[in-house]
Amino acid sequence: MDNLQAIKQRFGIVGQSPLLDRALDTAIRVANTDLTVLITGESGVGKEVFSKIIHSLSARKHNKFIAINCGAIPEGTINSELFGHEKGAFTGATSDRKGYFETYDGGTIFLDEIGEMPLDTQSYLLRILESGEFIRVGSSNVLRTDVRIIAATNVDLKDRIRKNKFREDLYYRLNTVSIAVPALRDRPEDIFLLFRRFAVDFAERYRTPPLQLDERAVQLLLNHAWPGNIRELKNVAEKVSVMAENRSVTAEKLVEYVPALLERNLPMITSNGQDSGQSFQEREILYKVLFDMKNDLNDLKSLVFELIRNNNLRVPDARSLQALHAPSSSGNALKGRDLYTETDDYRNRLDNLDEEEPQVDLDQEEARPVIIQPSGNSSREPLPGNAAYGSVEVLDENLRLEDHEKTLIQRALRKHKGRRKDAADELGISERTLYRKIKQYDL
Ligand SMILES: Nc1ncnc2c1ncn2[C@@H]1O[C@H](COP(=O)(O)OP(=O)(O)OP(=O)(O)O)[C@@H](O)[C@H]1O
Ligand SMILES: [Mg+2]
Repeated sequence: MDNLQAIKQRFGIVGQSPLLDRALDTAIRVANTDLTVLITGESGVGKEVFSKIIHSLSARKHNKFIAINCGAIPEGTINSELFGHEKGAFTGATSDRKGYFETYDGGTIFLDEIGEMPLDTQSYLLRILESGEFIRVGSSNVLRTDVRIIAATNVDLKDRIRKNKFREDLYYRLNTVSIAVPALRDRPEDIFLLFRRFAVDFAERYRTPPLQLDERAVQLLLNHAWPGNIRELKNVAEKVSVMAENRSVTAEKLVEYVPALLERNLPMITSNGQDSGQSFQEREILYKVLFDMKNDLNDLKSLVFELIRNNNLRVPDARSLQALHAPSSSGNALKGRDLYTETDDYRNRLDNLDEEEPQVDLDQEEARPVIIQPSGNSSREPLPGNAAYGSVEVLDENLRLEDHEKTLIQRALRKHKGRRKDAADELGISERTLYRKIKQYDL
């Protein structure tokens, strides 16, 4: 562990997440071998940093290291760049030229975005990995090289294989050891640590005192999905460091500088590509419904637990609990707290940061049935006809989007006494979409 901390310090790695530690631990273990390593992870998670750590801790550390982005080299020149060419091999080849595999002999080559490598180049690379042999473009002389390969990808290589864009044999050869660098959203405990580190770094660079975020501003950072990961966080820290007039930054100021922080980047429902503006609005409504349902459900669960515990009650039968799923008449379903994307609505959302919001992961949570587990301290008789009860009760939720969409539209129409324009406005969809839905659901 001490070793891990020392390495983090040496390479400026910030973070305490077990996922990060595991990835780093693997990197340290394989560094001193010549094994090929495949680093996977989303854009901006630190894949290149990992490749440098591996090189720096290897026996090749005094030899050269180069990072090559396979996606950035045109298909027509990549073979010549990597393997070199002979004079006259193609138009413009006025002299012999060494490629990276010759120049970096004895060192390490980091092949970023390996999934973008053209198929013919993949087969030359496979030959190098298997025998160390390669041929310059336009030559027939077999040359040898001793290079350690570290590859990285932010796409699913198995998917590229299925599409015949990536060689399966190369995949298995590269994947001797793989390191999955975690996305920032999977290591939330590191978000603030990283922000603070970057804020201090930028304060030094711009010679200002470091930024201080208030509690709600920190909450905003934690709620963001960070699709661009550490790179995005670093950019946010830099932008706020430069723009903040006041060193103490409130949540309101933070979203003023970085409006993207209001977007949660929820999971997407893929559309068929038609009418994307409309389907986006429809998605928004569905997300609102799902989040509201989730919150209502959590409130209900707590309420039921409390009631059972405080009053020493018998646990009601599942059928009576299901009655609680009937839509509430409070009409507040549209005050969805999590899904506003319009920046001028951000005050609303910021106000709601004060409330303790459960973090919702739709992938993980929405499809599951509700499980109610009574606490074991109340004296309870088993329910008739439900002998298994006493440990776990499972209720099957109705999560059909269509059903909830229909209910919501009915409620909006009722609330606005059938005035479609007002109902559509409240639902956040166009009148045309509402009209279509009314017909579709036969309302
Ligand atoms: N754990 C970390 N602590 C501090 N800074 C980090 C950490 N990991 C990465 N960084 C910084 O984040 C930025 C992005 O890292 P890097 O370029 O290695 O990501 P990447 O995964 O290669 O991205 P891409 O897929 O876009 O090429 C760099 O500025 C890097 O220094
Ligand atoms: Mg990179």
